[in-house]
Amino acid sequence: MKTGQYFTTTVAGESVQAFIPNDLPPKLTTKALAELQGPLRAAEAALARLNLAGEMIPSLDWFIYAFVRKEALLSSEIEGTQATLIDVFSFEHAEQVGSSSIDDLEEVVNYVAAMNYASNELHSKSGLPLSVRLLNECHHRLLQGGRGADKQPGEIRRSQNWIGGTRPGNAAFVPPPPDQIADLLGDLERYIHNDDDLPALLRIAAVHVQFETIHPYLDGNGRVGRMLIALLLDHWEILSYPLLYLSVYLKEQQADYYRSLESVRTEGNWENWFDFFLAGVEAVAIDAANRARQLHRRVSEDRRTLLEVDGVTITAMRLFEHLPDHPVITMPQVTRLLDVTKPTAGKAINALQRTGILLELGARKRDRLYSYAPYIEVLK
Ligand SMILES: Nc1ncnc2c1ncn2[C@@H]1O[C@H](COP(=O)(O)OP(=O)(O)O)[C@@H](O)[C@H]1O
Ligand SMILES: [Mg+2]
Repeated sequence: MKTGQYFTTTVAGESVQAFIPNDLPPKLTTKALAELQGPLRAAEAALARLNLAGEMIPSLDWFIYAFVRKEALLSSEIEGTQATLIDVFSFEHAEQVGSSSIDDLEEVVNYVAAMNYASNELHSKSGLPLSVRLLNECHHRLLQGGRGADKQPGEIRRSQNWIGGTRPGNAAFVPPPPDQIADLLGDLERYIHNDDDLPALLRIAAVHVQFETIHPYLDGNGRVGRMLIALLLDHWEILSYPLLYLSVYLKEQQADYYRSLESVRTEGNWENWFDFFLAGVEAVAIDAANRARQLHRRVSEDRRTLLEVDGVTITAMRLFEHLPDHPVITMPQVTRLLDVTKPTAGKAINALQRTGILLELGARKRDRLYSYAPYIEVLK
């Protein structure tokens, strides 16, 4: 089945075939739709269980905090950055880089900022709707700073790009010419806001492929396209809580991920991509539900342990309650968060260290870092 057409264009004196995708929705045969029902039901059942897990857990904001950072880390990893979760926390809370490179950490932290920005816009009355403008704003935030600066942050590309290969002539895939992008993105935006009979999960999967095929930016297309998945889950209220993040699956299955995207274009093989996507939703939802429960159990057990320690102070208890969204923390931060003196903060930190809840990171004399290691361990 044809999913678009090739357009001959010239890049650097070389003639290349740029691909212009057809508008969504994809045309599925009745048989293909019927075959997708099983995987669809399985994914939806896993989502229902994730919702239930979300309902049973108080202070869900903690987990969302951690899940968003993990998503940012893994989605950036698909792009090629290498950082660790603990370094992301250290960088955010104490501007320390650990063993990761500062450029990589910046990209991950930008990613978090972009996601939070978009989610706030979507939930605020005067905020931007889910639109090309919103995605451009995300892109702008994502490519802030060192590495992204020369990649036209926030702007649709004005030149021909390509995927794989060293030049357009030997590329695996040449996305649409720049003068087609505005129209294609406009169509995609309309598709998002119009009704459609396709189940929402399949629409999300379709929008992601379409976005990647358009490849509207000079760089960051994968990451903005994966953010778009999370934003659509939110926009279409697939879950009551933003707890589903697919990058862990897309990273584990990266070769299949790319292959499935490609076979939509080359073979019109939507079924394969949908199957792949739904299997991911199911696996990730099951994992997220388990992990949310484990994190909840970890915090409850640690709280109980702490209460049983002789001479535990109110300050130590108060500090403990901050740890899930400050999993890496410094002394100055503790004094600020709790509004206490250094000696009082020191005693609280010590109490938490004695119970194994806080672990000192490295052996620094000044600006020591402490991590809520047992919690971060569950996240990994
Ligand atoms: N064959 C393909 N067809 C369409 N999209 C692809 C293909 N292979 C990879 N992609 C997408 O392109 C992304 C990489 O594009 P890029 O602009 O470098 O994004 P990022 O910088 O965020 O990784 C991949 O993460 C994937 O989503
Ligand atoms: Mg890239």
